[in-house]
Amino acid sequence: MTKEKRTALVTGGNRGLGLEICRQLGAKDHIVFLGCRDIEKGTIASENLRKEGFDVRPIIIDASKSNTIMDAVSAVQSEVECLDVLVNNAGTFVEEWGTMPSALKVSELKETFETNFFGPFEMIREFVPLMLKSSSARIVNISSDMGSLAHINNPDSHVYEVMGPAYQSSKAAINALTVLFAKEFTGTHFKVNSASPGWCRTDMGTEDAPLSIVEGAQTPVMLATLPDDGPTGQFFSSTRTGAKMEW
Ligand SMILES: NC(=O)c1ccc[n+]([C@@H]2O[C@H](COP(=O)([O-])OP(=O)(O)OC[C@H]3O[C@@H](n4cnc5c(N)ncnc54)[C@H](OP(=O)(O)O)[C@@H]3O)[C@@H](O)[C@H]2O)c1
Repeated sequence: MTKEKRTALVTGGNRGLGLEICRQLGAKDHIVFLGCRDIEKGTIASENLRKEGFDVRPIIIDASKSNTIMDAVSAVQSEVECLDVLVNNAGTFVEEWGTMPSALKVSELKETFETNFFGPFEMIREFVPLMLKSSSARIVNISSDMGSLAHINNPDSHVYEVMGPAYQSSKAAINALTVLFAKEFTGTHFKVNSASPGWCRTDMGTEDAPLSIVEGAQTPVMLATLPDDGPTGQFFSSTRTGAKMEW
């Protein structure tokens, strides 16, 4: 059992933004559980971060598979006394860009929600008991500028012309979870916020994106390491370097 450092768990930590969030939390002296679907990929990613001097440990979590979430709770609590930080980062975008809602397959919507919505919900529900033992718990749900209903509906917004209805619905839905869990935990040591990394150069974001992975990870990490007088139940985006985002 260890509790000399703060502890964090990041889903989808083996590549992209999740990997960089693990790195930045490691650099801020956290013990980091790096969530991965494929233990080989997670082990390689963790070893690389350990070579950089950080305490990073791979853990199998498939956000769409409840049994892996239950097993992860047992594994984390066998190693540390409490969990301070949960970053629900794992995400998927399955439909073709530009798919109109009327052309979206129900199977695409369900597959997207399994990872982007039901998974984060189950992660929060199952890890709350371990986070209750923390003196300052922080939950960060990774959303997207594309999940902001205000932006989707604003002709002047940079996301107005974008269409990915399963993805966008799932990110709007995770924002609802943020508000509702934050409300439930009002007056406690929990803070629950949504972070949009902005459009970043990852496998999902492609090389065309304006933001680097390092820039995209900054808002999630800022919310994961908030002081006790920091905000809760809010939405921030790296598009405007950690600025508040309209829901
Ligand atoms: N990149 C952007 O421009 C952008 C913008 C806004 C929001 N976001 C959000 O930021 C988060 C990270 O995106 P990214 O750009 O880093 O994406 P990415 O490069 O495609 O990486 C996605 C990560 O999520 C994991 N993953 C996918 N489905 C999973 C599941 N069912 N269970 C567990 N892990 C799963 C992947 O694991 P495998 O390696 O096993 O596939 C991978 O580690 C996502 O929530 C995304 O929606 C990204």
